[in-house]
Amino acid sequence: MGSQDSIRYFPRKDLVETIHGLLTSGLTHALTMFAGRRMGKTLFVKQELLPAAETWRWRAYYIDLWVRRDNPELGLVEELEGFVEQKQTLKKPDKLLAKAGYGSTGIQAEWSGASNPEIDLQGRLKRAMRALVGQGNESVLLVVDEFQTLAAGKHEDFVSTFRATMQELQPQLKLFFTGSSRDALNSMFRKRKAPLFESAMPLPLPELGADFVEDRAVIFQEITGKSMDAAELGKVFNKIARVPMYLNQIVLHTMVSLTADPWEGFSLWRKALGDQGAHEQWVKLKPVDKVIVGHLASKQPISLFSAEFSAKVTKLLGEEKPYSPQRIQTAVNRMVKNMVLAPKGEAGEYEIEDRALEIYVAARMQGFLIN
Ligand SMILES: Nc1ncnc2c1ncn2[C@@H]1O[C@H](COP(=O)(O)OP(=O)(O)OP(=O)(O)O)[C@@H](O)[C@H]1O
Ligand SMILES: [Mg+2]
Repeated sequence: MGSQDSIRYFPRKDLVETIHGLLTSGLTHALTMFAGRRMGKTLFVKQELLPAAETWRWRAYYIDLWVRRDNPELGLVEELEGFVEQKQTLKKPDKLLAKAGYGSTGIQAEWSGASNPEIDLQGRLKRAMRALVGQGNESVLLVVDEFQTLAAGKHEDFVSTFRATMQELQPQLKLFFTGSSRDALNSMFRKRKAPLFESAMPLPLPELGADFVEDRAVIFQEITGKSMDAAELGKVFNKIARVPMYLNQIVLHTMVSLTADPWEGFSLWRKALGDQGAHEQWVKLKPVDKVIVGHLASKQPISLFSAEFSAKVTKLLGEEKPYSPQRIQTAVNRMVKNMVLAPKGEAGEYEIEDRALEIYVAARMQGFLIN
């Protein structure tokens, strides 16, 4: 199967205009956009928002924190510094600069030769944000993809510094954050004590609907010369939880199936998903991993780290040594490392990293797939 992007982009025009309106209204300078995995956040940003920002004569920058999630704070700083460097050489922080950066916070005394790397990172963050914005007078749009990754970061102070600098650079600096984990983004922006509280306005990514489905049917016709029943394709779309990436893949599968029946494409897609992707991931999991992943996929309310869940695992696996929350945590940590699970940003909360795996496992749990 070719690249997922080998099928044309379906524009979400109104959304760009809405964003422009909000960010120039004076009411807010930062927006957060939530949507599940594979729903089209990144594509929207890259295909529409960033090009539109150019036409508004804004300077636009894109940072994907997901790829830097091993150390998102450092990732953010380094990306920003990289943008600055493209235009000018950002001086290595010296004592004086550092002092200037902390002028109003009263912590100059603590700064001596960057002995504390966390404070150093905050200083670098401030300097890079200021330098980047200061490169011109035009509005600057900073898009941070998968921003919730920072919620799993270790330093609350870092987020506070980010927020303070963001405020300081108003109204020139505008921010657009995307996130797949509603909970984590919420915890960063909405909770009373969260450092970014009230500093950004949530904007949902609307689900693609019937017009998107019809457009896919048109593509099918353009390429194969056969007409596809858009109403049936719409039913398939509902069946796959309206995830646009999967609909694209199904349309491509239908093209090679020599029919025009979207259900044929759906069944081929499911087989391919099972053969290459999710099924392969699933069989590689250890027994305890399977219980944990199954628990998460079926959205059960009980915490993974409760005594109740440990007892359930012990009973299901029938191993000699009983499971404890610590042993569960070890398994979870291993799966986070292997990118099967991802932290949601709230302590003790995890989700399945790959939505295809989640759909696959949820179907297994409902008994749709036997082995
Ligand atoms: N507007 C669109 N038009 C056509 N295809 C789309 C559109 N939006 C999403 N897709 C399809 O969905 C796929 C995933 O999109 P994208 O990577 O933008 O999602 P995402 O929400 O950023 O996912 P992730 O959480 O994995 O980062 C795309 O590669 C494309 O196949
Ligand atoms: Mg993305």
